[in-house]
Amino acid sequence: MNKDDIEYLAKIVYDRSGIVLTQEKAYLLESRLAPIARKEGFNSIDDLVSTLRGRADEKMAWQITDAMTTNETFFFRDKTPFDNLKNHVLPELKARKSAGKVRIWCAASSTGQEPYSIAMLLNEEASKYPGLSFEITGTDISNRVVEKAKSGLYSQFEVQRGLPVTSLVKYFDKVDDMWQLKPNIRSQVTFKQGNLQDDFTSLGKFDIIFCRNVLIYFDQPTKAKILERMATMMPDNGYLFLGAAETVMGLTDAFNSSREVRGVYTRQAGWTRAKAA
Ligand SMILES: C[S@@+](CC[C@H](N)C(=O)[O-])C[C@H]1O[C@@H](n2cnc3c(N)ncnc32)[C@H](O)[C@@H]1O
Repeated sequence: MNKDDIEYLAKIVYDRSGIVLTQEKAYLLESRLAPIARKEGFNSIDDLVSTLRGRADEKMAWQITDAMTTNETFFFRDKTPFDNLKNHVLPELKARKSAGKVRIWCAASSTGQEPYSIAMLLNEEASKYPGLSFEITGTDISNRVVEKAKSGLYSQFEVQRGLPVTSLVKYFDKVDDMWQLKPNIRSQVTFKQGNLQDDFTSLGKFDIIFCRNVLIYFDQPTKAKILERMATMMPDNGYLFLGAAETVMGLTDAFNSSREVRGVYTRQAGWTRAKAA
């Protein structure tokens, strides 16, 4: 693929998802778009690109964008965020709010392992929080992964990644050669297609947002815009979990990093978007 074609494809992906693909990522474009070119009857990616240049094809543009998302995830990924949720965030929340609904959003939930890990954890902890009920929402730009997440079906390989065997036995049913989360865990999570480039404030307010391992794909202005929009959807001191390679530093003053709990940020009390502008 030549430099122009790489730039053309990178723009298609950036305009729709915010994902930045540099020239060094050309190998990724080649390996992920080759199956699409074949499936659509093109002789090569070059052919696909020249056809696309000739006529706008939004469906194809989204297929390309979807293929360029990285959906890597696994149960209880990185372990520490889930320990922090259990040992610090939930007890703190209880001190603030002894009754009512706690809303949790996984903002790039991929195939669902992250929100389902939270649902299993909450199931274990529920007796400590008798006055609270929990609602979990998972969103992702890719319909393909959202549909898989909804099914709650995972392969042997997937359940062997991060999931304690005791949880496998307790929360999954064997369905042919797959494992399916039991209905009581599945029903705790609502999945929707959702693009972080869009105005997602209609999802409502959240006490806790997990936005892990997705900001790494965006440029600085996009990261700042998404974080500040999230801040408008949280109460003062609401909790934001980012991935190990992600931070709010240098992007926005809407969040403070928690001194005791690494990777967890709290929404600054009284912050407003206007104040930051
Ligand atoms: C590496 S996965 C992270 C999954 C999970 N949060 C975790 O940490 O294991 C990144 C996910 O972000 C999604 N994604 C990428 N761009 C997005 C966007 N603009 N809006 C919503 N989701 C996006 C991808 O489809 C992918 O499933």
